[in-house]
Amino acid sequence: MQIAIDGPAGSGKSTVCKMLANRYGLTYLDTGAMYRAATWFSLKFTDEDLPRRLEAVDFIFSENGRRLALSKDGETWDVTAAIRTPAISGAVSRVAANPRVRAVLTEKQRKYAEGNDVIMEGRDITTVVLPGADIKVFLTATAEERAKRRFAEWEGKPEAPSYEEVLESIKRRDEADSSRPCSPLKRADDAALLDTTGLTLEQVAEHIGRMIEAERGGN
Ligand code: DC
Repeated sequence: MQIAIDGPAGSGKSTVCKMLANRYGLTYLDTGAMYRAATWFSLKFTDEDLPRRLEAVDFIFSENGRRLALSKDGETWDVTAAIRTPAISGAVSRVAANPRVRAVLTEKQRKYAEGNDVIMEGRDITTVVLPGADIKVFLTATAEERAKRRFAEWEGKPEAPSYEEVLESIKRRDEADSSRPCSPLKRADDAALLDTTGLTLEQVAEHIGRMIEAERGGN
């Protein structure tokens, strides 16, 4: 079974997908982490053609999508923490707008889905990567609600940005992700629209869980 979940930053995709992966025994794939890792890679190796280099990079997920390492020519880098910094969040939209980078990552994402029961989240999973998925959902929420959720994730950390900075960064990324010419963030006509503003992420997971159960039951 293939489940494709798209939506803007902070719409609840990652939390909900992890819950569903645990409950239904699915392989979880966070494609945003791959774009972040590609950005990390581009900052580390600025000298050569990025898309060509990325082709030879293995993206190795472990702990069911919770950790990510990159491997190339016998060297391995665990980038789990490094890809969550504000510097990467600020630079990722530029890398994700590159059509050749997208082509390389899209092919890797489709390979993960082959023969697996997957729940894959991102911006173009329902439209480009897995348009034939069994279940397609577009999650959304107001920018303020999404900023509130992202801000809460920073709580207690010394380098935490202010709420206003988080909101500004989310709005900038929304604009960049929705207006880029190649695979912009948009709802597929046949994807279910789920506005998560005012819902707990548990409620969102239960809603999609019912869709999975209906699909498994052959409805
Ligand atoms: O889900 P996230 O915020 O970690 O994603 C990081 C960036 O990667 C986001 O700004 C848009 C981009 N992205 C994309 O263009 N296509 C995807 N399938 C997933 C993420």
